[in-house]
Amino acid sequence: MELVRTYDKEREVDKMNEDALIWSPLTLIANKYKTDKGTTTHPGHSYTETYYKLFKDMQNEPIRLLEIGVGKGYSLRMWDEFFPNAHIIGMDIKCKNYAYLNKVNLFRGDQGNLVDLAQLIVLYEGDFDIIIDDGSHLPNDHKISFEFLKHYLVSGGLYIIEDLSWEGSTETRRRLAKDPDWYLCHFGKLGVYKKP
Ligand SMILES: C[S@@+](CC[C@H](N)C(=O)[O-])C[C@H]1O[C@@H](n2cnc3c(N)ncnc32)[C@H](O)[C@@H]1O
Repeated sequence: MELVRTYDKEREVDKMNEDALIWSPLTLIANKYKTDKGTTTHPGHSYTETYYKLFKDMQNEPIRLLEIGVGKGYSLRMWDEFFPNAHIIGMDIKCKNYAYLNKVNLFRGDQGNLVDLAQLIVLYEGDFDIIIDDGSHLPNDHKISFEFLKHYLVSGGLYIIEDLSWEGSTETRRRLAKDPDWYLCHFGKLGVYKKP
């Protein structure tokens, strides 16, 4: 039986069963809005398969979600559809304004700048259930944002950092992974911290 690699290089799919593969509802929404967190837009990280497992029980709750890194707003559209009762905030170093994000709050700020992070909290007050870092992908920015924003997660809230392999050397990742305060666990290239 031939094994092939999907876009997510950490995930091997049995070619024989590929046609029968059923993606989660979140991945279907991701693919509809063309965010690369799904499976069809390059490089097809398939993070939404992990996200679905983590988030499905809170889908209809009035959660508060912050995503760092707006891009073209594709993932914010996905969250907006998946979490119909959520308050969603997107933060980006560049000024973003998309008509299709009319239900989402957009905040211009640098995730590596504590003044900007503090302004975000003054404006939106914290108590986040989910924070996703898909911004600069620089280790120092990861750390600054995480150390500041983790205090504004609710108990049991999740802080997720994407694309850890972008952090350069495997040594950096190994060092970060050893620090229990940093990453609760790894799912491939996702770092997930759950607030006690
Ligand atoms: C990969 S894109 C986000 C994609 C989006 N989350 C999605 O899945 O559709 C990364 C975004 O991070 C923003 N960014 C880069 N450096 C940043 C920083 N220091 N603070 C905040 N945002 C930053 C960029 O302007 C860009 O819009």
